[in-house]
Amino acid sequence: MKQKTVLITGGAGFIGSHVVRRFVKSYPDYRIVNLDKLTYAGNLDNLSDVDQYRNYGFVKGDITDACFIDELFENHSFDAVIHLAAESHVDRSISGPMEFISANIIGTVNLLNAARDNWDGNMGEKLFCHISTDEVYGSLGDNGLFTEETAYDPRSPYSASKAGSDHMVRAWHHTYGMPVIISNCSNNYGPNQFPEKLIPLAINNLKNGQQVPVYGKGENIRDWLYVEDHAAAIDLLFHNGITGETYNVGGNNEWRNIDLIRMLCEIMDKKLDRVPGTSSDLITFVKDRAGHDLRYAIDNTKITTELGWKPSVSFEQGLERTVDWYLENEKWLKAVLSGEYKSYYNKQYRER
Ligand code: NAD
Ligand code: TYD
Repeated sequence: MKQKTVLITGGAGFIGSHVVRRFVKSYPDYRIVNLDKLTYAGNLDNLSDVDQYRNYGFVKGDITDACFIDELFENHSFDAVIHLAAESHVDRSISGPMEFISANIIGTVNLLNAARDNWDGNMGEKLFCHISTDEVYGSLGDNGLFTEETAYDPRSPYSASKAGSDHMVRAWHHTYGMPVIISNCSNNYGPNQFPEKLIPLAINNLKNGQQVPVYGKGENIRDWLYVEDHAAAIDLLFHNGITGETYNVGGNNEWRNIDLIRMLCEIMDKKLDRVPGTSSDLITFVKDRAGHDLRYAIDNTKITTELGWKPSVSFEQGLERTVDWYLENEKWLKAVLSGEYKSYYNKQYRER
């Protein structure tokens, strides 16, 4: 394997930490530089098992700081970027959109500019892998799937900011010849996800005997993918994807929120030796999210047929593994819940 220096942004976050772990362990000849601002969602404990590896280094920094990003590129001679750093939670984007515009759009452009300046004359050897979301395609009705050709129709400040970042990445490709690959993935779940997102929030509340807030009637549908399967897809795209192309990544695994939560309740009753039905009594329907997208579903034909990727973990297995992880990692959970989480939670759910 050729030696490479790879910048992974957002590597202290949920998906980023799984990508960093996979690359550090699988590619000892690569030097992996993890750049992260360590916002509320970034947590170096996520990487405690790999932070002593010789091929791993961490830099604390903000992608919205153009001078800092330029200097970082001048000091490191990166061969490739895997860009995951972003503000990622829809509900926070509704209450405070500006952070999303700044991190997701300006931050991405700063990275593209620095890569362009430093890679000029040598672009053919380089790669900018941009990790995006299926939410850029908008909301589906009862039928149909998002393909790579589906027109963008983002409807939340989060998805609009990610769509903006995707457009910038494509613009740098077409205008300046930047070698890029874009992936648009469905909802991830698994260990290390910050408990503001549906699955870890529900696990944490059920564990503590607290109500589980389900927005609206719980009829919204998401397509769920185990995070390590997403990390495997990113690895494959990084090594075998075609420059300039977009790949949709998804698990063919659609669930209505209420059905997912009911299944989670059954698993929690079993794991915690509770009388069946104890957990489902905690389900509480609350005021719906503003502009709540009804359904996301991915057509993953391109990545499965062209690159041979497929999800390896069934939803039942993945959910059970995830529940086990949260129950075994009390210390991790306590640490992330101690910061600003309480004030976020009270503000977010008090009025519902
Ligand atoms: P996350 O919120 O868990 O992690 C984001 C990380 O980015 C954190 O470590 C945070 O500290 C860092 N970060 C945020 N702003 C930064 C800044 N200005 N400078 C440097 N670092 C900054 O998010 P995640 O769920 O791991 O998502 C990672 C990426 O994958 C995002 O780009 C997201 O849009 C995309 N994605 C997520 C999902 C999902 O279901 N979670 C699905 C598809 C795509
Ligand atoms: P989330 O995990 O925030 O991901 P996204 O909004 O990016 O899909 O939410 C997943 C689904 O769960 C979404 O339809 C909103 C819903 N939801 C609830 O019903 N209750 C909650 O407390 C949260 C956080 C989400």
